[in-house]
Amino acid sequence: MKAIQILGDISSPEITTNRSMIEPIPKGSELLVKVHAAGITGDEIIWPEPYATPTRIPGHDISGVIYSTGPDYQGPLRIGHEVFAFLGGDRGQGQADYVICLPSEVAPKPTTLSHAEAAALPIPLLTAWEALVDHGALKTHESGKRVLVTGASGAVGTFAVQFAARAFGVRVIALASSRNHEMLRRLGASEVFDYGIIDWEKKIADVDMVLDTVGGDILKKTWECVKDDGVIVTVGDPAPAWAFGRGQAEECTDHPNVRYVHFIVSPNAEELRKAGEMIDNGSLEKLAVKPFPFDEAKAAWDCARQRNRGHKVVIDFIEEESLSR
Ligand SMILES: NC(=O)c1ccc[n+]([C@@H]2O[C@H](COP(=O)([O-])OP(=O)(O)OC[C@H]3O[C@@H](n4cnc5c(N)ncnc54)[C@H](OP(=O)(O)O)[C@@H]3O)[C@@H](O)[C@H]2O)c1
Repeated sequence: MKAIQILGDISSPEITTNRSMIEPIPKGSELLVKVHAAGITGDEIIWPEPYATPTRIPGHDISGVIYSTGPDYQGPLRIGHEVFAFLGGDRGQGQADYVICLPSEVAPKPTTLSHAEAAALPIPLLTAWEALVDHGALKTHESGKRVLVTGASGAVGTFAVQFAARAFGVRVIALASSRNHEMLRRLGASEVFDYGIIDWEKKIADVDMVLDTVGGDILKKTWECVKDDGVIVTVGDPAPAWAFGRGQAEECTDHPNVRYVHFIVSPNAEELRKAGEMIDNGSLEKLAVKPFPFDEAKAAWDCARQRNRGHKVVIDFIEEESLSR
């Protein structure tokens, strides 16, 4: 099968394509999915996992068709069903013609979307949901709350704005470039701020929750915006120095009652299924995508690593097969 690989090491990675990789075989209750499109999270190139995977195949977001199932699979999905999936952080290997999925990772693909559009969604959808609900502990009866989302115009940010405003009814304050403010108001943001304006953090006070998708200096400034007993949830890469149990945030000396969390997104087939239904019934807006053919994998990765792109980058694994038919 064909696949994309990250060769070299984390200090000098090399994106390459390989057309002679061995197709995996599903065991136990695993599913084998024929990948039609695979999303790229550009920062995966600075994660340790792809370098520790023998195949060196990256990719956690896919959309495709069930090709075969392991002998013990008893779930509802059948060969030929269209699915999308987030492959867990320690597994991945989705940027290939075929990938092994666990039943806990796979949900029916939203029917109104192409495979390229669906492949852009799993990580952003699940990260936004888990940040708000699992780590931020947002509940549906807390409509008086205010949530600040940084990187609000990005893939994770736009879903965070939509879930917070539309599913939870909270007031959303969105931090993003001015060119994205109109879009963010349409998605449900009540207030919008540009991080290019000096002292933006002094204009936002007493939010109940910060959902930070940027990290670094932006994350640091959000400590000025959060309530004394509020919560800061961050997913920005690289992770803060205090993440993974490596100590305390220095800001907590001045804000001892602020809870702060960094987390890594987890697979959740049921949440993915529900979010897919929300896309199909129009209560969530899809992301803009830019598909690249397999042979342009390097250009695709270069594009995905740029910030401020305004779209998710996906690799189309089927295009050349349809052309050669
Ligand atoms: N821990 C996890 O499990 C997890 C899961 C998913 C993603 N992530 C990480 O979360 C981050 C966001 O992911 P994403 O897919 O949403 O990225 P994205 O689509 O590239 O969006 C990033 C957003 O950040 C904003 N931005 C860029 N430069 C900025 C700056 N200097 N200051 C403030 N904002 C800036 C941009 O806003 P404007 O265009 O409006 O300027 C852009 O929309 C990435 O680092 C990703 O690796 C982590």
